[in-house]
Amino acid sequence: MRNILVIHGPNLQLLGTREVDLYGKVTIDEINRELKDLAASKKVALEILQSNHEGEIVEAIGAARGKFGAILINPAAYTHTSVAIRDAISAVSIPTVEVHLSNIYGREEFRHTSLIAPVAKGQVSGFGKASYLLGLEAAIGLLGK
Ligand code: DQA
Repeated sequence: MRNILVIHGPNLQLLGTREVDLYGKVTIDEINRELKDLAASKKVALEILQSNHEGEIVEAIGAARGKFGAILINPAAYTHTSVAIRDAISAVSIPTVEVHLSNIYGREEFRHTSLIAPVAKGQVSGFGKASYLLGLEAAIGLLGK
């Protein structure tokens, strides 16, 4: 299956205007366009979801079983709180790459813990838009494994 589910968590629809000192001026549309271009160049299809709702993200992950070869997720604030998203990833056994625009380990202490990291194949954190592109490269490398 050469397709990947991309999930942007809460508040990421505000990128471009939200805390630009931390997240830069890049918008979610720009990130999505670059992800799609990279995926197309590798003959991979993407489905992209942005949601501010934990349950919607849990449902999307649950429905992904058998339909997607990998998941690329920026769980945003749910990184630090959501046992439900962690359990969903663990339940579907789809290789998952976690990404963050900012370096979560260089910020407030409550961001230093990711509940998602232990069930992800790996994490890319701190490189802005490049975190997503690096994460997508990693996710493509996991397809079929
Ligand atoms: C974030 C980091 C999280 O701590 C934060 O809640 C976000 C964005 C990032 O991409 O750097 O919303 O996931």
